[in-house]
Amino acid sequence: MIRAGIIGATGYTGFELARILGRHPAVTVQFATSQSQAGRLLSDVYPAAPPLRLVAQEEAALGEVDVLFLCLPHGVAAPVAETALAAGVRVVDLSADFRLKDPAVYAAWYGQEHPAPHLLAGAVYGLTEVARPALRTARLVANPGCYPTSVLLALRPLLEAGAVGGTIIADSKSGVSGAGRAPRQDTHFVEVANNFSPYKIGRVHRHLPEMEQGLRCWQADPPPLIFSPHLLPVPRGILSTIYVPLNNGWSEGALRALYQETYADEPFVKVLPAGTLATLAHANHTNLCVIALTLAGDMLILTSAIDNLVKGAAGQAVQNMNVMFRLEEVRGLVE
Ligand SMILES: NC(=O)c1ccc[n+]([C@@H]2O[C@H](COP(=O)([O-])OP(=O)(O)OC[C@H]3O[C@@H](n4cnc5c(N)ncnc54)[C@H](OP(=O)(O)O)[C@@H]3O)[C@@H](O)[C@H]2O)c1
Repeated sequence: MIRAGIIGATGYTGFELARILGRHPAVTVQFATSQSQAGRLLSDVYPAAPPLRLVAQEEAALGEVDVLFLCLPHGVAAPVAETALAAGVRVVDLSADFRLKDPAVYAAWYGQEHPAPHLLAGAVYGLTEVARPALRTARLVANPGCYPTSVLLALRPLLEAGAVGGTIIADSKSGVSGAGRAPRQDTHFVEVANNFSPYKIGRVHRHLPEMEQGLRCWQADPPPLIFSPHLLPVPRGILSTIYVPLNNGWSEGALRALYQETYADEPFVKVLPAGTLATLAHANHTNLCVIALTLAGDMLILTSAIDNLVKGAAGQAVQNMNVMFRLEEVRGLVE
């Protein structure tokens, strides 16, 4: 059995992770931490959670697990990763701390110096579908952001094929759990219910540099990206509608073949048949990224749906763990 620890189990991603690991046949959760709820059961905080006893981080025996999942805010996660790595423990970090390779870019977008820049070179960006070889030996995995997962998986085939002819516009919508559990005025029920709001549109959201870094893996000088997120009045799910001007000569059949070929063997990427659009209902409560293609003249419109807490966070983290420990990739992630 793989021994796992969860740091920050009382947050939304920590709770989802505890649920997934609780039914994973090859994992035993050794500890789950919380600073604010230590001593209580996770099931006292979330009725649907397994009855894990929450302990303060200082009381968790970090060195006595095989893998540690960090479900902490950025800036807080990196020092914990450093301690765990020094104790020989493999780490999957769900925060943004190790996603950006350049510490200067991290400082510019996250407003603080990187807490452990020496660890960045060894961190593997864990978009599972493109990172498997590196994941097998990774000590530190930077689990991707939720919006970047929905956008990068949808764009990958086009970038690899050099099919993009101009500025890409990713128009994304997220359920409110994407903002975490701590109360804030702009995610308060009265602000969100019966409302629909754009925020940080254009080129100012922190996930933009992460997406641009991802695009550069497939094309040295990728086309410009506009990213406009919106807050949906639902608890969970992300739907990205992505407008991509194509360079000449792409038929719908050729595009469809490209996507089907790229993702033919992927258990968690589903390309929908012609005439169907991706919706939150296609992906919520699953580890799937569901992608649909619509051709409008020389513009391809992609719709890409994920559950922000599953494929966008805890599910992909477990998928990565499965690869790291040479387990079947779908283990614990399908009913
Ligand atoms: N929500 C999403 O859809 C999503 C998707 C992908 C990635 N992420 C990333 O995953 C991480 C966790 O997100 P989340 O949505 O689960 O956040 P959250 O709901 O706000 O939970 C944060 C957790 O961190 C703990 N915590 C907060 N400040 C802490 C501190 N200073 N020291 C120790 N523990 C602290 C909290 O524990 P206590 O208060 O119980 O002590 C809580 O368990 C974030 O970095 C986020 O950006 C989130």
